[in-house]
Amino acid sequence: MENRPWERWNDEGVAETIESIWTEVSEKVHRDALAELCAVYMSGPGLQVLEVGCGTGRIYERLVPRLVSNENYTGVDTSEKMLEIGRRKHPQARLQLGDGFGLAFPDRSVDVAVSFEVLGHLPEIGGFLREMMRVSRKHAIFTVWPCAEGMIETSEVIRGSRFIHRQYSHDYLCQQLAQALPGLAIDLDVAILYTECWGYVASPRSGPPGVTLRHLFPVGNYRLSLLREMATTQR
Ligand SMILES: C[S@@+](CC[C@H](N)C(=O)[O-])C[C@H]1O[C@@H](n2cnc3c(N)ncnc32)[C@H](O)[C@@H]1O
Repeated sequence: MENRPWERWNDEGVAETIESIWTEVSEKVHRDALAELCAVYMSGPGLQVLEVGCGTGRIYERLVPRLVSNENYTGVDTSEKMLEIGRRKHPQARLQLGDGFGLAFPDRSVDVAVSFEVLGHLPEIGGFLREMMRVSRKHAIFTVWPCAEGMIETSEVIRGSRFIHRQYSHDYLCQQLAQALPGLAIDLDVAILYTECWGYVASPRSGPPGVTLRHLFPVGNYRLSLLREMATTQR
């Protein structure tokens, strides 16, 4: 995207390389864990879901139709190249161009907005979180690569393209949410997927503004299942 040097997903060969990495067992297990997290918050008929940064449809294929019907799922992404791969695999899916910093959806127009493995690649997260909270009625669910304190920025290189890699501490994330949405009361649930990745669920509530930690819980035992699956495939 123009004027966004951190967005390299359309660079030559990047989308294809990433998609091939995502066929690895660890990536499969990781996205199974994300679907497990979603299952806690996505129940009931007619649930409307928006995925921000849907990439090549790896989350779509776990959510639809198990947790949400095809017609009630929309995925948006800023990368045409990532979307192209997703559309090829899932021609029936609504995967469209869209920007998490300015979502073309009315306020409270979906039940749940999800965004996985996106925040850590952004240079600023307040505006993105504000948009996710604006469009969702019930929950905004997203992943964070955690760190103990503050924010740690490094980078990673894929096919010669450099991507921002940011880890956020819990306190940093709460501050960003509170600053981005000063008038809003938010309940925050934190799901420990594993050491390197935590799931956050932000839900608006009534009451005085502020961010309140509500639940802290583990989702599955995915390290163990990963090891077992690897052992099976290597046998
Ligand atoms: C690491 S991929 C994750 C894809 C998918 N969520 C998954 O877990 O399989 C990050 C995706 O976020 C997209 N992205 C980055 N910035 C975005 C933005 N501002 N709005 C929408 N999508 C964005 C990228 O194009 C890329 O497809």
